[in-house]
Amino acid sequence: MSGGASVSARGWGWRHAGRRAWAVEGLDLEIAAGERVLLLGASGAGKSTLISALAGVLGAADEGEERGTLLVGGTRPQDARGRVGLLLQDPDSQVLLARVGDDVAFGCENLGVPRDEIWRRVGSALDAVGLHLPLSHPTSSLSGGQKQRLALAGVLAMQPGLLLLDEPTANLDPAGVEEVRDAVARVLAHSEATFVVIEHRVAVWRHVVNRVVVLAPGGGVLADGPPEEVLATRGAELAASGVWVPGFPPARPLRAASPHGSAPLLGAPLLRACELAVARVKGVPVASGLTLDVDPGVATVITGPNGAGKSTLALTLAGLVAPEGGALEAGDTLAAGAGSHPIRWKSRELLTRIGTVFQDPEHQFLSSTLRKELAVGPAALRIPQREIDERVDELLARLRLTALAEANPFTLSGGEKRRLSVATALATRPALLVLDEPTFGQDSRTWAELVALLAELLDSGTALVAVTHDADFVDALADREFRMPGAPVPGGAA
Ligand SMILES: Nc1ncnc2c1ncn2[C@@H]1O[C@H](COP(=O)(O)OP(=O)(O)OP(=O)(O)O)[C@@H](O)[C@H]1O
Ligand SMILES: [Mg+2]
Repeated sequence: MSGGASVSARGWGWRHAGRRAWAVEGLDLEIAAGERVLLLGASGAGKSTLISALAGVLGAADEGEERGTLLVGGTRPQDARGRVGLLLQDPDSQVLLARVGDDVAFGCENLGVPRDEIWRRVGSALDAVGLHLPLSHPTSSLSGGQKQRLALAGVLAMQPGLLLLDEPTANLDPAGVEEVRDAVARVLAHSEATFVVIEHRVAVWRHVVNRVVVLAPGGGVLADGPPEEVLATRGAELAASGVWVPGFPPARPLRAASPHGSAPLLGAPLLRACELAVARVKGVPVASGLTLDVDPGVATVITGPNGAGKSTLALTLAGLVAPEGGALEAGDTLAAGAGSHPIRWKSRELLTRIGTVFQDPEHQFLSSTLRKELAVGPAALRIPQREIDERVDELLARLRLTALAEANPFTLSGGEKRRLSVATALATRPALLVLDEPTFGQDSRTWAELVALLAELLDSGTALVAVTHDADFVDALADREFRMPGAPVPGGAA
C-alpha cells in the first residue's frame, strides 16, 4: 500500500459561487502523513467543502473563489487525485455500474491498475466492508446501507495515500455502522494512509482516530488535539456549538402526553395496515405480513436492518407506492371524502393528508430557491400568498435556514438539505408525516431543534411515522416501535 500523504492548509478559504459567506475561511491546518483525524463542526461549518477541496473535486474557478493555499502531499489537490480516495455523504450518487464487482473495480481501472491485481483488490475490499455478494450481483437491488459499503470498497481498492470519508455511516443500521467502522479500522491498521473522517457522532470514531479537529462555523479551527484531551477539556463548549459529544446529550422535548405507548389516542386510526405486503418492483415483495395502525398524535418508528424494506413500507404508507398485498386503508378522518385508498389520491389530495420526507432529500427538490421550494405545496393548495409567506418564514427560522432562503436547494450542505426536505413536507400541514431518516446528518443542535418541532406537531395531533436508525430519536420521540420482520437480505449485516 502507498505511503501516507500530508495535508497543509495556509490561510485557506473557499466561497461557493453565488454565496456571500465563505464556507471556509482563514484555515491553518497541518496534518502529517499517516495521521488519523476526525473532522467535526456544526452543520454548514464547511467540513464537506474542505474535504472536497482535498479530493480535488471542488470545481473550477467559476464555481467559487479560493484564498490561501491547500496542499496534499506537497502538491495541489488537483494534481494529487490518484492519491486521494473520497467517500461522500450520498451513496446513490457514487454507485455507478450495474454489477457489484465492476463497480468496486471502476476506480482501480481509472488508475490503470493491472487486471489480476484489480480483481484481487476487489475481493479483499468487499471482504473488508463485509459485503459478501457475488461479483455479478446487481447494484440496483442494494439498500442504501449496502451501497455505502460498496462505495467504501471501491475507495479502499484504490489504496489511497489520503483516505477521506464524509459521514460514511450516517445511513447504516447500528450493526452496519460498527461493521463499516471496524472494517475501516482494520484497513488502517495495515496501512500508512492519512485518514480524515467527517462524522457528527464522535462516539463512532473516537477510538479509530488520534486527533480531533473542530471547524468553527465562519472560519478557522475551534479545537484541535487528541480525542480524549479535546473532549475532556472542551466537551461542554463543543456540545453547545452542535458537536455530538459523548456525555452531553442534546436537550429532549417534553411531550404533552407521556411517551412510549401511553399517549391518549385522539381518535380512530388514520391508517390501518393489515397483513400488508410491500414491493418497490411489482411482483417482488420485500416484506409482508405487516400489520400496524397509524394514530393521530402518535409517533411510530420503523426500525430494522438495512435492506429489510423500511423505506418501501414508508412509501407505501405514504400513498406513493401501491400495496403488493394485504390491505391499507385510510380511516374516515384522514380520507375526508377522498376514498379509503391513499394510492388513488390525487397529489393535491395527498398534500394535506400525508407529507413525505424521502430518504434522499434531493429526490424532492423542484425549485431554484429554498423560499420557492417551501411555497410549492401551499401554492398548489391555493393558500393566499400572505399566509404562504408567513408559513415559509416560520419554517425557515425553525429549521435554521433563514440565511439560505434565496440559495439553490441543490447547493446546500448535507444537513441543510435534510432540514429543507422536512420543512417542505411540513409546509402543507399534513395530518400524517412519513419521514425516512429525518435526523440524518444533523449536528446536535439542529437535531434538538428538529425533534422539538416534531414533538410540537405530535402534541397538536399530527401522526408521525419515521424510519430511523437513530437511537436518540427513538428514545426522544417514539411512542411505538415497529420492527421490520424481513429476513436479512443476501450480503446484509453479516
Ligand atoms: N455547491 C455549493 N454551492 C453553494 N454553496 C454551497 C455548496 N456546497 C456547500 N455550500 C454552502 O457552504 C457552506 C458549508 O457547506 P458544507 O457542505 O461544507 O458544510 P458541512 O460542514 O459539511 O455541513 P453538514 O454537516 O450539514 O454536512 C454551507 O452554507 C452550504 O450551504
Ligand atoms: Mg457535509
